[in-house]
Amino acid sequence: MNGKGEDEVFTMKWIQKGDSARLQLLDQSDLPASVSYVDLHNAKEVAESIRSMKVRGAPAIGCAAAYGMALECLLIAKEEPSVSGSTLKDKLQDTKKAMDEARPTAVNLMYATARIVEVVDTILNIREDASAALISECIVDEAQRIFNEDVENNKRLGSHGVATIDQDVAPMRASKAAKTEGATATNGPAERLNLIHHCNTGALATAGHGTALGVIFSLSQAGKNLHVYVDETRPRLQGAKLTCWELRESRIPHHLIVDGASGLLMYQGKVDAVVFGADRVAANGDVANKIGTFNLAMAAHAHGIPVYACVPTSTIDLTIPTGQDIVIEERSSDEILRVSGGASIAPDGTQVFNPAFDVTPARFLTGIITEEGTLKPPFGANLKEAKEKALQR
Ligand code: MRU
Repeated sequence: MNGKGEDEVFTMKWIQKGDSARLQLLDQSDLPASVSYVDLHNAKEVAESIRSMKVRGAPAIGCAAAYGMALECLLIAKEEPSVSGSTLKDKLQDTKKAMDEARPTAVNLMYATARIVEVVDTILNIREDASAALISECIVDEAQRIFNEDVENNKRLGSHGVATIDQDVAPMRASKAAKTEGATATNGPAERLNLIHHCNTGALATAGHGTALGVIFSLSQAGKNLHVYVDETRPRLQGAKLTCWELRESRIPHHLIVDGASGLLMYQGKVDAVVFGADRVAANGDVANKIGTFNLAMAAHAHGIPVYACVPTSTIDLTIPTGQDIVIEERSSDEILRVSGGASIAPDGTQVFNPAFDVTPARFLTGIITEEGTLKPPFGANLKEAKEKALQR
């Protein structure tokens, strides 16, 4: 997915001819079995695709939601060309609400839909009688900007990640190698950089390149000899299905592990660093990410292994003081009971609790890698500064 070929698989594509548009979306629920796309024509279809996780990953759902609002505005402009600016804005506010409710934890969703509403506000402030057609045009441009910025930011994030791993992890590995001379990782020679990755944070989860997986792609592109332990990521198996698929496409050596295996690997000295993405970073540096991230980070912290959350600044939410205030999405019991939609694995009537995310306290993080650089503790002021820097760019 990181190449540039014509037949390249893509996460989403905006297709427009005049005032007719559609969003073509890779159906991630079919991967890795098949690569298939769905065509979405209105905001309702986009919100449903976000809810059912045809598209998933915080930045990717933000981009899809922005395009969804653009589709809605184009439809309104077609059906009611002389709609007033304030009525149009009210309708788009309703669309934003429906979109935001599709998945409540990922702040990138609200970040993107808020940017679309801001565009409408800006135009109406300049020209109260702006036409729906003009507003649609500006919204489409903004959605494209959100998409392109995400690709750009992830590449920048990736190069900061390479520098950080070089700086923090290489010296630790050298001293470890000196102490345990001759020791080898299960799956490769000791000189390999061994990383653990949770969930899926690659091109599939973003507009392109990825966040934590983007750092891994950047390390590989920089010629580093690396190997990835891929957490399968119960219950939806984004690690097994999506991350292994992306790593295979990029020919990066990897082994799939069950989520519970990471502690053993760390105990055996086979892990140099842990990288993951996030759906929301609170103002104090606590991060919400896929369920299981907290246990992984805590195990790494206990072993003195560096832990990095890799996020574009659009994932930082300074309005949320700590992780305790982050809304954690709960999903259906079937996700746990039926592996890949198969027969129930538990006795009939088993009660299930299925939080989709957890919160890793900031104290377990070595750094937060962003497109503005790698932030080190104490995170509070550094997060604010990174967010401001991004706004000024
Ligand atoms: O439920 P998902 O698959 O949308 O969860 C995705 C994650 O938790 C990712 O780690 C996160 O969105 C960061 S993606 C760059």
